[in-house]
Amino acid sequence: MCGIVGYTGPRDAGPILLEGLRHLEYRGYDSAGIALVADDGELFVEKRAGKLANLRSALNGRTPHAGIGLAHTRWATHGRPDDRNAHPHVDCSGAITVVHNGIIENFRELRDGLVARGHVLVSETDTEALAHLVEEAYAGDLAAAVRSALGAAHGAYAIAVMHRAEPDRLVGSRMNVPLVVGIGEGETFLASDVAAILEHTNRVIFLEEGDLADLRPWGVTVTGPDGGPRERPVSRIDWTPEAAEKGGYAHFMLKEIHEQPQALRQCISGRVRRDGRIRVEELGPVAPRLAALSRVELVACGTAYHASLVGAAALQAWTGLPARATVGSEFRYSPPPLDPTTLVIAVSQSGETADTIAPTRYAREQGCPIVAVTNTVGSAITREAEAVLFLQAGPEIAVAASKTFTTQVATLVMLAAAIARERGSLGVEEETALGRSLLALPAAAQRALDLSVGVAGMAGRYAGSRGFMFVGRGTTFPTALEGALKLKEISYVHAEGYPAGELKHGPISLLDADCPLVAVATRSTVYDKLISNVMEGRARDARVIAVASEGDEQIGRFADDVVLVPDTHEILGAVLAIVPLQLFAYGVALARGTDVDQPRNLAKSVTVE
Ligand code: M6R
Repeated sequence: MCGIVGYTGPRDAGPILLEGLRHLEYRGYDSAGIALVADDGELFVEKRAGKLANLRSALNGRTPHAGIGLAHTRWATHGRPDDRNAHPHVDCSGAITVVHNGIIENFRELRDGLVARGHVLVSETDTEALAHLVEEAYAGDLAAAVRSALGAAHGAYAIAVMHRAEPDRLVGSRMNVPLVVGIGEGETFLASDVAAILEHTNRVIFLEEGDLADLRPWGVTVTGPDGGPRERPVSRIDWTPEAAEKGGYAHFMLKEIHEQPQALRQCISGRVRRDGRIRVEELGPVAPRLAALSRVELVACGTAYHASLVGAAALQAWTGLPARATVGSEFRYSPPPLDPTTLVIAVSQSGETADTIAPTRYAREQGCPIVAVTNTVGSAITREAEAVLFLQAGPEIAVAASKTFTTQVATLVMLAAAIARERGSLGVEEETALGRSLLALPAAAQRALDLSVGVAGMAGRYAGSRGFMFVGRGTTFPTALEGALKLKEISYVHAEGYPAGELKHGPISLLDADCPLVAVATRSTVYDKLISNVMEGRARDARVIAVASEGDEQIGRFADDVVLVPDTHEILGAVLAIVPLQLFAYGVALARGTDVDQPRNLAKSVTVE
């Protein structure tokens, strides 16, 4: 996720902002920049692709003395991670500077309008359009101009804006992306998270959706989208700097689990219209080849493979084409027959996994159309693909994937729907029903988190078990695999993910009072069959933990512990059912005292075979 820090006050802004960026480094980023209104009234902007060190060496240790400024670390969503696309962005007049976290969904339309009205946009970003919209609306009052500009923008944002003509004023606003105001002694701050400003003040205002904050050195006024005043309490933060980087969570993994509603919102934003129609514009480069497809191969590893199983099921159901997911290291040395009518979808959070890249390259050499699904702009997998879909989940720091699993599932489902629609095999009604479920998914994920509050505690009661058997059937089977993987990775307890119907063909012999059965029993067409399999396990003394859909009144009869999740479209079930299982793994790991964020023997990105 990008980072923002802003300052207005009597001290020299440059060093404060650069130090603020250093505190945001843990979030991951691909470029950084700073803008200052110098004491002589000139606007100073410097920005560089790469690490903060690149920006520092471009500055050569010097920034002009200034009492106001903005700085940013970018994590690319629109446009390559290069100097030009780095923030801050400036309007045509060179007076207005904007930094932005999030995604402006209608930026193409906004850019087209601005260009038609004579503006010159120099980057590929959605953010730059905001600078020019503020320019058009500006009539001497920056807060009014920002409010008016945001009225034209749809999407998720936290922005900070300054105008050279008002050299003590910062304006910030948020919608679905966090932004905090820091209150110091005769100085104020804006930041994407508390870590950036904690060394200067521990008094902060957490802005709420639609809030606009008007900062001067001596104080802040908060108004709503209608311009009316909003009372926002000042909170005192007593986090250590380390806790602040984790947003107050004990671990990055826990933070990232809780970021899932926001990550899903960003992932879906711009791809599902309000009426439920699904538009995946990134598919454009392969669109002419879709009609001639004979089958689809998905290739991925680990968590991305589990998400790909859902993608394959969706593709097969909606296109009628054979579709399957294969682990990259298997695909690589036993490739299926490939030809230009085989669509290959490569799925990798990092985009750097050697076992996924090699088979993708091989498939490209065979003439297959390639689509990459990744979280990382500029990663190696993007160079192997004709079309790329980004997860928009923000950087994931914990080794164990959480928000990238749920956004991979959502992205692959949207991709499957778009391909099926292009081929004429998905009707409008089916598409819009799915689209509406996608739009409801961020709120449903939040509810899944709320319903899971007791899970970490419950996990403690099971933490001493010898092993765990996770089962699912049909659409719930990939969740069983992913739940078992999470538990193995971070708690070092053995866990298996099995199709429930297979229990009786062997693994049932493992079940006893010391090997609980975790059943992913959310609503599905094979729910009754799954329950029969669970009963077989229960008869062997296994304790049963069930993840079930809200409204399931009978599940309590078959399970010792039940965690409910909201109901959703069956193909999206994994997105919600995995939430309590991520927290279960986390709870077991805590009880066993393992290293949650950096489990032994594992790396976040596996770039070797
Ligand atoms: O970056 P990728 O998605 O290609 O990574 C694939 C796997 O290495 C990864 O999903 C791994 O299984 C995670 N540690 C899962 O939590």
